[in-house]
Amino acid sequence: MYYYRLGNIPPKRHTQFRQPDGSLYKEELVSSEGFSGIYSNLYHTYPPTRIKAIKDPVKYGPTRINDYALRQTHLNTSKVATTGDDYLNARKVLLTNADCSISICAPRQRKMDYFYKNAEGDEVLYIHDGKGTLISPFGKLDLRQGDYIVIPRTVIYKLEFEEGPLRLLIIESSSPIETVKRYRNQLGQLMEHSPYCERDIRPPHELVTDTRPGEYLLQIKKQGYLHQYIYDYSPLDLVGWDGFLWPYAFSIHDFEPITGRIHQPPPVHQTFQAHNFVICSFVPRLFDYHPQAIPAPYNHSNIDSDEVLYYAEGNFMSRRGIERGSFTLHPGGLPHGPHPGTVEKSIGAKETHELAVMIDTFRPLFLTSDSLEFLDANYPMSWTDPASGPFHEVNTP
Ligand SMILES: [Fe+2]
Repeated sequence: MYYYRLGNIPPKRHTQFRQPDGSLYKEELVSSEGFSGIYSNLYHTYPPTRIKAIKDPVKYGPTRINDYALRQTHLNTSKVATTGDDYLNARKVLLTNADCSISICAPRQRKMDYFYKNAEGDEVLYIHDGKGTLISPFGKLDLRQGDYIVIPRTVIYKLEFEEGPLRLLIIESSSPIETVKRYRNQLGQLMEHSPYCERDIRPPHELVTDTRPGEYLLQIKKQGYLHQYIYDYSPLDLVGWDGFLWPYAFSIHDFEPITGRIHQPPPVHQTFQAHNFVICSFVPRLFDYHPQAIPAPYNHSNIDSDEVLYYAEGNFMSRRGIERGSFTLHPGGLPHGPHPGTVEKSIGAKETHELAVMIDTFRPLFLTSDSLEFLDANYPMSWTDPASGPFHEVNTP
């Protein structure tokens, strides 16, 4: 990340910074890794510690399935228009482990009438369908189709979407979501061989300063509960902030693919890193240009990772029966590869228009009870007898 500022801040940190009525603004340092990681300084009108009431917490979180058999898995969420009413109950965790949770979210409501804060994880929202705004104390951030929205933990936010299709892929991480280390120089700048650079990262662009008294609900996610906090002033009471820690947008359409004469391995698609998992972007690109190249991927045995692909757009040449909004999970311990016929068919192809998000985890993922309705029971046999279909239908085991 890089240094950014919005609004008014005093020339020197931790010094007197006064409101028009002579009272002091309330400074808040938001810091990571104690005082050793990235941080920002926020200037509030009211103390961020001031609360009106705390209501009973609400249980919140997935039910993990511990005895799911080792098998190739296809979860097809394409048929589902909505997964719940509001943003939080529409977030359906489908795959989870201690490092990350992967959810689909298609809320019926377009505007949140409360604020939300994830106190235990960074979040990445991939905007598969939708257009809107993330509103946080750091300001307004535009959300567009194809954006990754990276929200550091404890950032208070609400979302407002325009009418129209709305579908989010949400990746929640127990460790910080970061740009890829091998693409950063010693001072953190993204280098020339990086598939994207700072110009592609969009910070919040417009500060919202709301000092009106009222009753503001903040739902805080931590340790299996949504904790209900009531504030008598809006969390959007900032007049300014600066630092390295802020929510940002990066569009998958700004990811510049790395291609080669022969098939390039998944690390060239890496977009973000976190502890024990990575996020990769498969974007429209030219195929391999060796005269004998095979554009389709080779069979692959991932001996120590689980591979999740979320299919966003395009014809997915190596997979039959996969639809827009499908997830595949190819778990460690089993080989996976192109479906029968797709390798020969790929020879001579010049380019692909596919768009997909991959999450590779280095510890096994678990399915959840919410994932079962999307399960395609035929998928494990789809390499053996592709005619046995129907691969595109949702089957409950
Ligand atoms: Fe693979």
